[in-house]
Amino acid sequence: MKIIMLGAPGAGKGTQAKKIAEKYGIPHISTGDIFRANLKAGTPLGLKAKEYMDKGALVPDSLTLELIMDRFANPDCANGYVLDGFPRTIPQAEALTEALKKNNDEVDYAIDVDVPDEVIVNRMSGRRACVNCGATYHIVFNAPKVEGKCDTCGADLILRNDDKPETVQNRLSVYHEQTQPLIDYYNGFGKLRSVDGTKEMSEVFDAIVDILENKESK
Ligand code: AP5
Repeated sequence: MKIIMLGAPGAGKGTQAKKIAEKYGIPHISTGDIFRANLKAGTPLGLKAKEYMDKGALVPDSLTLELIMDRFANPDCANGYVLDGFPRTIPQAEALTEALKKNNDEVDYAIDVDVPDEVIVNRMSGRRACVNCGATYHIVFNAPKVEGKCDTCGADLILRNDDKPETVQNRLSVYHEQTQPLIDYYNGFGKLRSVDGTKEMSEVFDAIVDILENKESK
């Protein structure tokens, strides 16, 4: 199963992608997580990506494509994957379509998690991320058991640099300009499905499972 998660920053793509990965036993591939892991390790890729991420801009397609094509070569991708944050531009989507076509393959679904901008801005200010393992929480909707500490590894939780309100506004503009056109792109292939991302996390997940198991109401 090959699934793409679409949606604005903070729509809940990562939250849902993790659950999909667990349920169907496929890897969750987040380009944002890969860039942040590289930054933490101090690699040249991570340092280069930081220049763009801190401003809320996109990392150039050439860097992103090299990284993701490398990731697809990993044996854990043999039975598919759930992509979170990739593709994010039309050239990235076209590169993915072409790479899959070489193996007579295609994505199964592009799932758009639909959330209006005003809800996004509130959500992002409440998101907290673990400095160690990258797990994410929300101070109201998905609070950690101990305030400020990760449930999984116990490390500190922080507000990501790019979750500050001024950067979130820029990420939303970049999303509308460069990523939203992917909705039409995948609609054109009959692959697009939409879920209401303003519902509770478990309801959003149920709607996604219905789509993946072909039970959605048409
Ligand atoms: P990335 O890490 O991919 O960030 P993003 O797409 O902006 O998405 P987020 O991770 O911020 O949000 P999400 O939709 O996953 O929401 P989440 O589940 O956490 O990318 C960061 C940067 O890296 C980019 O800006 C860019 O610079 C670069 N980059 C990455 N990929 C790239 C690419 N392909 N090309 C170029 N550059 C790239 O949820 C958000 C919050 O809401 C959480 O606190 C969560 O607990 C809460 N929440 C989730 N669902 C619900 C719900 N239903 N109700 C209430 N709260 C909820």
